[in-house]
Amino acid sequence: MKIVHTIDALRQTLAPFRQPAFVPTMGNLHDGHMALVTQARALGDVTVASIFVNRLQFLPHEDFDTYPRTWQSDCDQLQAAGCQVLFAPDEKALYPEPQTCRIQPDPALADLLEGQFRPGFFVGVSTVVMKLFQCVFGTRPGGVAVFGKKDYQQLMVIRHMVRQFALPIDIVAGETRRAADGLALSSRNGYLSPTERQEAVQLSRALRQLAQAAQAAGADLAAQRPALEAQAVAQLGARGWKPDYLTVRRQTDLQPPQAGDTAVPLVALGAARLGATRLIDNFELP
Ligand code: PAF
Repeated sequence: MKIVHTIDALRQTLAPFRQPAFVPTMGNLHDGHMALVTQARALGDVTVASIFVNRLQFLPHEDFDTYPRTWQSDCDQLQAAGCQVLFAPDEKALYPEPQTCRIQPDPALADLLEGQFRPGFFVGVSTVVMKLFQCVFGTRPGGVAVFGKKDYQQLMVIRHMVRQFALPIDIVAGETRRAADGLALSSRNGYLSPTERQEAVQLSRALRQLAQAAQAAGADLAAQRPALEAQAVAQLGARGWKPDYLTVRRQTDLQPPQAGDTAVPLVALGAARLGATRLIDNFELP
């Protein structure tokens, strides 16, 4: 695996290739990331990953400074998964001057759910992803980028950005990888104490239950949804969690299902704090 730290070196390294397949990350990699890299390997003529902890997507009180930097383990895993090029710029290399030019994602998609509880998050994500896309794909007529469904709203925001800017990049979704008990793999699981780790699976259980209840509600879901969500929030709250939201939305636009939306595919999404750790998860309804 070739490791490059500057935009120039990345462009030189990728020059011979026609269709990079790219997995952007913030490092602290786990099997979920490796599944994305494995998926990417089948999609391009060179497999590229990036590691960059993007300050722009953290609020001032969030964990930018303490976000785990696990360089050697990340490199070993990427190498073993068959990644061919790792782009690991430092802040000066990616943001040589203050990144005052930013991508403003569609508020209808980006200002709700995660965007409501982490204002500016998707501006930071969209801006760095656009910049990483420029670095990896340049003016190539095609490329592929793989994003995990665990960050469901992020995947939708990026897809929308790519469509609106007519970027010639296929956005491919990777399924969420879970631990044996059902906890979605996440870099932030490492913050959990052993007791919290045992409890952590309850978020996915609550979402699964909410998804089942939504399915059972059928045509009456629009009417029943507020009560079902309130119940899910209360149940998780009673276990000591601080839920931001547990909600059922349309997969198409993340808006609440309306009466008559019977054929619209749905997704249950949630974010909740367990101790000092904020976890997110989601389940698509079949
Ligand atoms: O999902 C992540 O790890 C980050 O939000 C991303 C897409 C790498 C942008 O910093």
